[in-house]
Amino acid sequence: MGKIILTGDRPTGRLHIGHYVGSLRRRVELQNSGEYEKIFIMIADAQALTDNVDNPEKIRENIIEVALDYLSCGIDPAKSNILIQSEISELTELTFYYMNMVTVSRLQRNPTVKSEIQMRNFEASIPVGFFCYPISQTADITAFKATTVPVGEDQLPMLEQAQEIAHRFNTVYKTECLVRPEALLPTNEACSRLPGTDGKAKMSKSLGNCIYLSDPADVVKKKVMGMFTDPNHLRVEDPGSLDGNTVFIYLDAFCKDEHFEKFNSDYKNLDEMKEHYQRGGLGDVKVKKFLINVLEDELAPIRTRREELQKDIPYVVDVLKKGTDAARAEAAKTLAEVKDAMRINYFEDEALIKSWQDKFNAQS
Ligand code: TRP
Repeated sequence: MGKIILTGDRPTGRLHIGHYVGSLRRRVELQNSGEYEKIFIMIADAQALTDNVDNPEKIRENIIEVALDYLSCGIDPAKSNILIQSEISELTELTFYYMNMVTVSRLQRNPTVKSEIQMRNFEASIPVGFFCYPISQTADITAFKATTVPVGEDQLPMLEQAQEIAHRFNTVYKTECLVRPEALLPTNEACSRLPGTDGKAKMSKSLGNCIYLSDPADVVKKKVMGMFTDPNHLRVEDPGSLDGNTVFIYLDAFCKDEHFEKFNSDYKNLDEMKEHYQRGGLGDVKVKKFLINVLEDELAPIRTRREELQKDIPYVVDVLKKGTDAARAEAAKTLAEVKDAMRINYFEDEALIKSWQDKFNAQS
């Protein structure tokens, strides 16, 4: 059987360059590698609602933003299905059955859930739906028989949870119908945890430290010029430190040797530039200007495609509809197998109906 990819994002905002280097760019490479039989990319609106109950409008608005971000990055509807989670009721049904395969204490130990509970001040009262989202994510993954889930590091505990549930289900019901998925992590450390422009651990909308894929060129420029570097690097001739230096972390994630040929022939590669910075004599502004060029090299084509797509929203909606329909057909097959394995397929089971009849015939 061929390899199948499932991955997704919560539509709580436009996607930023952290999403891009952490997963989007990789998805496009994987899509174009021809190694995957099927690819499903999910806009996880139902999951997003688990901590946005009171704000469905936000999720609704961002469905189209995320879809535009996907397509403008190079997700090709001829090769990948983009789907909307809430449109596939089979996923909710699978979630309900999987709930019996995992304990409350196991969910409480899930590090991603733990830190998200803290971030949202849910400690005193966790919404049940939110608490169970790892189970629903397992449904997302197994419904499409995904072998491969390209995600950031923060999603690893989710994958473990999915592997456990799939394994438990297969063992309990003596079936092979659920596939145990593997995570596919970013290969470059800078890519798996791109910090915010302020140097804080993560890009997040609430911290206002994101560079969005849809930001215009002048906004990107302004954000880079204001970026956190080495606070002790006061004069150009001072030695600078790379430690926690956001500009260099971004270069690690985006820069290729060819960028030096194109934009700064003083150096052959990033190592040479870093070395000069550490030695002293290379100012932050120069490095920032170089980073702007490097970013623009990758972001400008994405922005242009987005502008084109924005002119034809009905086309984008059609892509979503077709992707969702194709995905629903796959999920329905898996759900039928799951119910079959659990023996809760009464109407399809002729032998059962007969055995019921035989039981009462024997009594009379
Ligand atoms: N939890 C992911 C996020 O926070 C989104 C997501 C939902 C997902 N279902 C998934 C990711 C399945 C990978 C596989 O963005």
